[in-house]
Amino acid sequence: MTDHHDHHAHLTDLEALERCAIHGRATLYPERIKIMVGTATCGNAAGAQEVLDAVREEVEGKHLPYAVAETGCIGWCSQEPLLDVWVPGQPRVTYGRVKAKTVRDILAELPEPKADRALAVMTGDDNPITGRRTSYCNGGDRPEATLNGLPTYAELPLFKRQLRIVMRNCGIVDPSSLEEYAARGGYRALWRALFSLTPREVLQEVQLSGLRGRGGAGFPTGRKWQAVCEATGGPKYIICNADEGDPGAYMDRGVLEGDPHSVIEGMIIGGYTMGAHEGVIYVRDEYPLAVARLSEAILQAQRADLLGKDILGSGFSFNIGITRGAGAFVCGEETALIASIEGRVGEPRPRPPYPAERGLWGKPTCINNVETWATVPVIVQRGGTWLAGIGTPKSKGTKVFSLVGNVTNTALIEVPMGTTLADVVNEIGGGVPAGRVCKAVQTGGPSGGCIPAEQLSLPVDYESLTKAGSIMGSGGMIVMDDRTCMVDIARYFLGFLEDESCGKCFSCRVGTQRMREIVNRISLGQGSEEDLQLLEDLAWLVGETSMCGLGQSAPNPVLTTLRYFRDEYLAHIRDKRCPAKVCKSLITYTIDPVVCNGCGACISPCAGGAITGEKKKLHTIEQAKCTKCGACLEACKFDAVLVN
Ligand SMILES: Cc1cc2nc3c(=O)[nH]c(=O)nc-3n(C[C@H](O)[C@H](O)[C@H](O)COP(=O)(O)O)c2cc1C
Repeated sequence: MTDHHDHHAHLTDLEALERCAIHGRATLYPERIKIMVGTATCGNAAGAQEVLDAVREEVEGKHLPYAVAETGCIGWCSQEPLLDVWVPGQPRVTYGRVKAKTVRDILAELPEPKADRALAVMTGDDNPITGRRTSYCNGGDRPEATLNGLPTYAELPLFKRQLRIVMRNCGIVDPSSLEEYAARGGYRALWRALFSLTPREVLQEVQLSGLRGRGGAGFPTGRKWQAVCEATGGPKYIICNADEGDPGAYMDRGVLEGDPHSVIEGMIIGGYTMGAHEGVIYVRDEYPLAVARLSEAILQAQRADLLGKDILGSGFSFNIGITRGAGAFVCGEETALIASIEGRVGEPRPRPPYPAERGLWGKPTCINNVETWATVPVIVQRGGTWLAGIGTPKSKGTKVFSLVGNVTNTALIEVPMGTTLADVVNEIGGGVPAGRVCKAVQTGGPSGGCIPAEQLSLPVDYESLTKAGSIMGSGGMIVMDDRTCMVDIARYFLGFLEDESCGKCFSCRVGTQRMREIVNRISLGQGSEEDLQLLEDLAWLVGETSMCGLGQSAPNPVLTTLRYFRDEYLAHIRDKRCPAKVCKSLITYTIDPVVCNGCGACISPCAGGAITGEKKKLHTIEQAKCTKCGACLEACKFDAVLVN
């Protein structure tokens, strides 16, 4: 992280906040060359720390007068690790899939980065808090120019349709810098709330915005806040739900690692509005970097009088602590989460009473998702009607999605509500890999469902996805092509839910188990047509008789696959055939004697030692040893491996 001096320990007036922002601007947009490496978990997993070390080594070893900084995830996951070079007055140049050993070559070109090994340029960035654009080119007094024909971010299909409100600072600021957050207009909304608006007026703005909770259910945030405002008895509490247990989802992690202050600011404003003085962020322990960056940001905010007693001299006091969860999916459910914070077993309880009435320690509690909290400062700063102008009549604002699976650009994206699934998958995501056919899109994780490719014209909003049998959920979006077996997908999600069911409701505990057994049987080719009716009956029963959302929505993956891909179930049952060639019991790997040229490439990847054959002679697979792992299929460059 960059070297931050603690000159702003006390933000006692607007001038102090502005001075803090000035220091932030100096590191955010320095007058010397700046090298930035995206070191969120996604970048680190791809080797960003090694790249960062190489940059530091080169800069320090050669005494180069360059600033080196870390930043969060800009969302271009398929190109990690990402390195940005910014020469003042020029567009910021992004390099993708950077290796430590290529760092020296990239830096050697400076101060004139060359286009040939770079991906794109960022000519400036839009800031939804201020409503202004910062041009990176020649102090903004010239048109934003690109570099030798490199595409700008604004031109790239991946970024063109995005609108970044929640992720406004991710990949822009150094997440460990309070000053850089302030330079982007951070904590202005808090200032405005504390000194220009009454709690009632803040509530009105949130209500006007039409914001709905981003944790999955889409409950109107203004209504929830009003209930907490009106609840009697105290103390009241604020909770940020950062449990994020859906497989394939990492939106909240991206925000916490890339811009922790945005969540903290939202929570303080929430505390002021609802009369709470204590906040808790519940983060799963598998997110150590998010915990570290949040902890550092909380400490900075405390030192700067943004948290603690008498915030900024307003008379309002508020503090935030972190509770680390052990990673149970059900602990994302609000009442289970509260039980977990209190040190009890993480099991849901019946509602009502809702947490707004009886939450943490039995007191009125407002629990919102990470994205919900990060949107709050923008609402306060720009006004509720500004946000309400984005999206659809019933789903306002933007939504962050982690776009994963069989898609060209795996990415963390933010789009206005109402963007169609087709635009997300085909335009932003670049479609399924070449030669493949899109089959379905899974939204909402284990509580959601599979939407078939024919329905990709659906707009992404709460109502449309629910009507299709899925849900918006927290934002995981898994693209599936023709290599995906829908029976296998249903089996996977049921297995997940069976494992994650807390067991309190008999119907959920045993129902998910029985449903998984039936789908398992079908995938083994041992199912019957009566099983489909049994599955539907069980799904209905589990959904109707479970107490919490886990069981209530557990049928969705099964019901949507049955509704849209019944033929595939029937192929497994009647023909003992898996059309996608995934279910191992129903497929056989053989080698085509006409095509095989005996190159031997398939022999060593075969962990079971099933493949034999002399060089340049036909190879064969011994069926008893074949584990059907598919390694030979991947290794063969001549399409000689057959799966039937
Ligand atoms: C099984 C289950 C898991 C959940 N997991 C999460 C989660 O990881 N994050 C989250 O914000 N909400 C999760 N929720 C929803 C929460 O119960 C709650 O509705 C949400 O935190 C409220 O915040 P919001 O109004 O901002 O969406 C989950 C619900 C269920 C039933």
